[in-house]
Amino acid sequence: MAGESDLATLLKSMHPLLRDGDYVYALWAHGKPLEGNIEAAVREAEGLTVVLRREEADRLGLSYDFVAAWITLQIHSALEAVGLTAAVSSALTAAGISCNVLAGFHHDHLLVPSAGRRRAMEVLELLGRGVVLRTERQPDREEVLALTASAFSISPVTGLPVDGVPPEVNLLRELFECEEYLPELSIVAEIGGEIVGHVISTRGWVGDLELLGLGPLSVQPHLQRRGIGSALLRETARRAEDAGEPGIALLGSTEFYPRFGFLPARTLGVTAPDPAWGDHFQLLPLKTWPDGVSGTFRYASPFRAA
Ligand SMILES: CC(C)(COP(=O)(O)OP(=O)(O)OC[C@H]1O[C@@H](n2cnc3c(N)ncnc32)[C@H](O)[C@@H]1OP(=O)(O)O)[C@@H](O)C(=O)NCCC(=O)NCCS
Repeated sequence: MAGESDLATLLKSMHPLLRDGDYVYALWAHGKPLEGNIEAAVREAEGLTVVLRREEADRLGLSYDFVAAWITLQIHSALEAVGLTAAVSSALTAAGISCNVLAGFHHDHLLVPSAGRRRAMEVLELLGRGVVLRTERQPDREEVLALTASAFSISPVTGLPVDGVPPEVNLLRELFECEEYLPELSIVAEIGGEIVGHVISTRGWVGDLELLGLGPLSVQPHLQRRGIGSALLRETARRAEDAGEPGIALLGSTEFYPRFGFLPARTLGVTAPDPAWGDHFQLLPLKTWPDGVSGTFRYASPFRAA
C-alpha cells in the first residue's frame, strides 16, 4: 500500500501512540550474534547500535545513558514523504524536547526523553491541529500586539466593545520593554506561521518572594474555544515549574482558570493589589511554593502605572 505523502494530511492524521515502558540505546559487542528482543538496530562503521526495552537491556547486561519513551506515529507515511519528521522535530524542539526519529517501512517512531512523554504527546496533539507553541521573538511583536487588540476588542469584564485601542495593548507593549520581562515566559501559538495566540508572564513579588504575574493572554477571536488558550496556560505552568518559579498570579475568570489549578490567592496568604478583585485574583502554587507566605502581590511596573 502506498503511504500518505501530503504534509497537512500527515500531520492531521498522524495519531501518535505512546508505547508502555522505557526504551534505551545501547552498543552491541562487535561480532556477537544478536539475541533477545531488539526493537531496532543500526550498523555503523564504529559498531552496532540497538534500541530495546530498558528491562531487556538490563537482562542482557547492556549499559545505556539515554532513557526514552517511544511514540509511534500511526499514519502510514510514504518513506519519501517530505516534511513530517522536520515538522514533528521542530515542534518538539520548540517545546524544549529532544527527539530521535526512527523510520520503519510503515511508520515513523519518535524516541523522546522518558520524563517528557506527556508533554511530547500534547505537543503532537496540538501539531495535529496545526498549532505550534514557541517562545516569542522580537520580530513577532507587532503581530502579537495586533492579536492582543483583536482579542480584547470586546472587554472581558463588561462584555461590551472597547472604544479605541484596548488598554491591554499598551500594557503589553510596555511589558515587552520593562525590566521584569522574562523572554522564556512570552509564548506564542502559531498556525501555518501566523500568530494566533499569545501569553506573557512577568516578574512579580510578594514581599521579597519572587513570583510571576500572568497576562495579558490572547487568542484570535475566530479561533477561540479550540484549546489554544489552555495550551498556552499549560505551557506557561510547565516552563515556570522547570525554572523553579514558586507560583503564578493572575486576575481573571473564576470559571476558566481553576481548571488549571489556580486558587483564590487569598487562600494562599496573598492579597490582591486591589481588594475589589476578590476571588478573581488567583494563584497557581507550583512545586516550590513555600509555607507561610503572607502579603500583597506586586505586579511588574507597567501594571502599576496602568
Ligand atoms: C480567554 C481566552 C484566552 C481563552 O482562550 P481559548 O483558546 O478560547 O480557550 P480554550 O479553548 O483553551 O478553553 C475553552 C474553555 O474555556 C472556557 N472559557 C474561555 N474563556 C473564558 C472566559 N473568559 N470565562 C469563562 N470561561 C472561559 C470556555 O468556555 C471553554 O470551556 P469548555 O471547554 O468547558 O467549553 C480567549 O477566549 C481570549 O483571548 N479571550 C479574550 C481576551 C481575554 O479575555 N483574555 C483573558 C483575560 S483574563
